[in-house]
Order: sequence, then structure tokens, then C-alpha cells
Amino acid sequence: MNSSEVLVVDKLVKYFPVKGGFWRRAHGQVRAVDGVSFTVQPCQVFGLVGESGSGKSTIGRLLVGLYRPTSGTITYRGKMQMVFQNPGSSLNPRRTVGKTLELPLRLHHKGLTRKELRQRVAELLTQVELNPEYANKLPRSLSGGQKQRVAIARALASDPKFIVLDEPTSALDVSVQAKIIKLILELKDQLQLSYLLISHDLSLMRNVADVTAVMYLGKIVEIAPTAELFANPAHPYTQVLLASIPVVSVEEEALKPTKRLVEGEIPSPLQIPQGCSFHTRCPEAMEICTRVAPELLTINPDHQVACHLHGKRGES
Ligand SMILES: Nc1ncnc2c1ncn2[C@@H]1O[C@H](COP(=O)(O)OP(=O)(O)O)[C@@H](O)[C@H]1O
Ligand SMILES: [Mg+2]
Repeated sequence: MNSSEVLVVDKLVKYFPVKGGFWRRAHGQVRAVDGVSFTVQPCQVFGLVGESGSGKSTIGRLLVGLYRPTSGTITYRGKMQMVFQNPGSSLNPRRTVGKTLELPLRLHHKGLTRKELRQRVAELLTQVELNPEYANKLPRSLSGGQKQRVAIARALASDPKFIVLDEPTSALDVSVQAKIIKLILELKDQLQLSYLLISHDLSLMRNVADVTAVMYLGKIVEIAPTAELFANPAHPYTQVLLASIPVVSVEEEALKPTKRLVEGEIPSPLQIPQGCSFHTRCPEAMEICTRVAPELLTINPDHQVACHLHGKRGES
């Protein structure tokens, strides 16, 4: 890890055993994350997009230590925290907001007096734009957006340098989503945070992420600075994903890649296709794709794609 990086993920793998039958023996494995590498810079929003089941949340949980990797390494500076999709279930219904925030404060700042704790709780609530009086409330009296603000305040309580945001707004009303995103971005600048932003929402990525990585069945298939990815999507899967974003203007329609619908269902992660795992749905699949898994290759500065259409010259 060099001095400018806050997170380095190297060849990360997570397989889950699948148990079943009378003896509950493992009879296979889900390849949830299958050799993922990336780095995140200070104050960067690193976006992870992909269909449901592609392994995004598993990466988030590996980063914060909720899962242990099957193999590969995760190196980072400072503390790491996570904000989950559903603020309703991530907050203890019987604990007041104040108590919820005091727990991590007590763990990470040992020796705080009760008065200092109360002060710090009030500061955290102010930071997420909630009235400090909310300390006395129980989660059930809060709206979804307010609960997510509390979850963000709880993540901030241990002074992290890095926060994993797993679909932080997808359980919220559209009108609330924009406000939470605005808050998240303001906090990033104020506190010099870096984020791993997990979402299946490409419009959100386009607006928020500095770098976007596209996942398919446990692998990153394309990664680039967000503007570059949206302007020059190189992987047929990325092109299909971008073609499915709703269009708001004629100008946008003109910029969109040719519409091609992705064919068929996403394969089961228990039986990932041989070769390129996307070949069963790819509109441009070639013979080599059924046999050889493509590696991530650099096609433009900072732009990498794993696809035989962009193979090394003379080899594909
Ligand atoms: N704890 C677990 N045990 C077994 N399989 C899991 C577990 N967590 C996730 N998976 C499987 O791993 C794959 C990736 O899941 P996940 O990381 O949640 O995807 P995403 O967040 O992109 O929707 C899915 O097939 C999912 O069913
Ligand atoms: Mg998920």
C-alpha cells in the first residue's frame, strides 16, 4: 500500500459452502466474490454496481470484518465502518438514539465522562442534521430517513477514515434519497472520508462515484473513472446496464449506447459458466468466451475491462 491509498484489496475471494440433505454436508459452494482487486484513494467515492447477487454486499462485509476472506488480502488505514441498506433493522428498537450512539463512543474513546458523552452525542446528531433532542427518541418514532441519519452518526462515532455504504438510500423514498446523498457527500468533505458505495442504481453512481467498478457473478468486469465508464463503456455487460437507465432528455438518448437487452436470467452463483461468466447472456459472445476467462486489461488510463473483444492485440 503506498502513502496515497486508504484501502488496497488484493485478489479477494469469498466462497460460501452450501449445505443440504440429511447429513447437512457441504455439497458445493457459492462463489460470491471471486478474485477482486481494487484500491481506494483518500476522499474518494469508489462505486460498486451490479445486479443483485453479484457479490457487492459480501465485499462490504469482508472489508469491515463481518466475514473472513477465503483468500486474498484487505489492507487499510484507520477505522472502517458500515452503513446498511435497511436502517429499520440495523437499529435496536429498544435502545434510544442516544444510547445507540454512546456504545461506539465508549468503545473508541475510553474514559469519557457522562457529560462528555452527552456532548459528543449531541455533536454527532448535529453533524447528521438532527436535533440533539433526538437522543431521547426510540427508532420507532423516526422516519426512514431519520433512522438512516442515526445509522450514519453511529458509523461516525468511532472516527472512521472509511465507510462502506451498502445501498444506503434504496430503502428510502425518492425525495429523501437525495437529501441523504447530499449529507453523505458533505460529511466526506468535512471529515476527509473515503467511501465504498454499493448500489444497483447507475444514475446514483453517475452522480456520486469518482470511480465505478461493475461486478458480474463475483468478479469486477470493468472499472474506470465514472465519467469515462459512462462515456465509453467497454464491456458488453456494462453497455447493457447503461442502456437500461431511464432517459430524461433527448440529448441523453442520443448519448446512450445502442439498446440491447440482456438475454436470459443471471446464472446461479452455484454454477458459474466456464470461460467468461457473462458469455451465456452476451450479445457478442465468441467461441473463445466459452473456454477462456478474460483478464482485466487496461484499455485507457485507469480504465480496465475483462472481455475478449478487448484482448491483447494479435491474441484474440
Ligand atoms: N452468508 C451467506 N451464506 C451463503 N451464501 C451467501 C451469504 N451471503 C451471500 N451469499 C450469496 O453470495 C452471493 C452474493 O451475494 P451478495 O454479496 O449479497 O450480493 P449483492 O449484494 O450484490 O446482491 C449470492 O448468491 C448470495 O446468495
Ligand atoms: Mg447487497
